[in-house]
Amino acid sequence: MSECAVICGLGTCLPERVITNEDLTARLDTSDEWIRRRTGIQRRRMVDPGTSTGDLAVAAGQAAQVSAGRSADFVVLATTTPDRPCPATAPEVAHRLGLTEVPALDIAAVCSGFVYALGLAEALVRAGACDQPLVIGAEVYTSIIDPQDRNTAVIFGDGAGAVLLRRGDSGEPGAIHAVELGSSGAGSDLITVAGGGSRIPGREQQVPREQRYFRMQGREVYRQAVARMTSSARSVLDRVQWSPSSVRAFVGHQANQRILDAVADRLGVSKCYRFGNIAEVGNTAAASIPLAMADASASNRIHPGAPTLLTAFGGGLTWGSAAVTWPDVVPVSLPPKSPTALCGSMTDRETDAVATAPQPH
Ligand code: COA
Repeated sequence: MSECAVICGLGTCLPERVITNEDLTARLDTSDEWIRRRTGIQRRRMVDPGTSTGDLAVAAGQAAQVSAGRSADFVVLATTTPDRPCPATAPEVAHRLGLTEVPALDIAAVCSGFVYALGLAEALVRAGACDQPLVIGAEVYTSIIDPQDRNTAVIFGDGAGAVLLRRGDSGEPGAIHAVELGSSGAGSDLITVAGGGSRIPGREQQVPREQRYFRMQGREVYRQAVARMTSSARSVLDRVQWSPSSVRAFVGHQANQRILDAVADRLGVSKCYRFGNIAEVGNTAAASIPLAMADASASNRIHPGAPTLLTAFGGGLTWGSAAVTWPDVVPVSLPPKSPTALCGSMTDRETDAVATAPQPH
């Protein structure tokens, strides 16, 4: 047995507002049948005006700490939709969580963001740089989606998920055995918000619509996602010497049900060990893996300690996979925190969590 980082808390936050496929057909040239058949998505969540990524991240982070019964000493926030271009969102999230002066940073690895953040956090624990990092994936994707673009508007939704890590050993449930990360900037044009940065700067009204919103070359992204997630998953499984048939929980980034099925089929992971919630929440980018893990936990079909494969792919291009054992945690769900809400001591947080019923999936 060796020392490693262990997942000891799992928290989520989903906005209340549900957008069904039928809601989208009212304003887009699409159909419920097309969306279900081509993506597996039936509905997604959307924040109310004024609610930001930070508001979801604070709630999910607080929920993960309540689930773990302990506080974080480092915050890593994966997001494509930060509250603003500058500064990063994580320091304010840490402040609102009452985590005074802990290191806090954002990671921009789009839909691979959670696995990237998990990889960084577990390496920090192994290096002795911190003991209990909070890893949050949070997105208000609806803030960058073009409501008139049927290629993307039907796919993405808002939400947040978080895990708290602690120092432990590789024999414990929740142990992170290995994380593999990769990127290929040659494909950076396949998923973009082109304007608003240093290459195409300017105020919003000066940037043409095409460069203001999220754009995706769906067909090529689909092809790359299947290939990269499959090879990355194989490589992390090789590292820990687990065969795909020994995996008892496969939780992929909830990009598209067909992508997830293709990856699991190629790997040879049995259907009964595949978990996901894309039908209910769509693609929530950096938030999707912890949200799917919480949903899977609620199914009571996975035992703590079960060999688990997490895999993701996203813009950049980026990808990553993690070999972990299923954590022994009870997920906690909290509603978005208002922009000014500060979280108090752990006692306050526990009271808050008990008072808030878990949100339906
Ligand atoms: N409703 C109806 N028709 C749609 C549509 C929608 N919402 N979106 C696209 N179409 C149309 C296209 O315009 C195209 O029409 P055409 O043949 O007349 O040109 C047709 O459907 C097929 O388009 P295509 O892009 O080949 O469809 P697809 O089967 O590849 O599905 C995606 C499109 C976006 C669902 C799919 O490519 C995908 O899931 N890509 C990856 C998305 C993803 O995971 N992104 C996140 C990165 S992690």
